[in-house]
Amino acid sequence: MALRQIREQGDEILRKKSRDVNIDDITAAKNQNLIDDMLETMYHYNGVGLAAVQVGILKQIIVIDVEDGKGPYVLINPQILKTKGEKECEEGCLSFPNKFGKVIRPTEVIVEFYDREGNKVKLKAKDLLAQAVCHEVDHLNGVVFTDLVLPGSLEYVSPKD
Ligand code: NI
Repeated sequence: MALRQIREQGDEILRKKSRDVNIDDITAAKNQNLIDDMLETMYHYNGVGLAAVQVGILKQIIVIDVEDGKGPYVLINPQILKTKGEKECEEGCLSFPNKFGKVIRPTEVIVEFYDREGNKVKLKAKDLLAQAVCHEVDHLNGVVFTDLVLPGSLEYVSPKD
């Protein structure tokens, strides 16, 4: 496993759409290594989620860990089938270091995806997991959270040394 470099605000790749992974290739070493590296990178930087585009790879792969005891989740070719509710959430992103803002997210989503073994999975996600799924799926469509922040809510919090 290896840490990957995170693409940050201003990098044009963050605006591009990611491509579907061919489901016959999910278990190929190249994709499995990418997933392992994404997990390592997410944990290293204390993120709750990371999309492949954030490490410069335009593939529909997401990793999430919201410390719910069931993760990490690996979502390949995710499709949000249904959303329910609305909630104001505090949000940040590893591609926008030290920036935080408030966004409206659903309280519940049903998402269908392939896991890293290539199994099709349907998951009902609530609260922080629903928020993370929406945030990361947005990345796959070239959308970043600062596009969605409620006016005046974006803050820069200087890092502690
Ligand atoms: Ni993000």
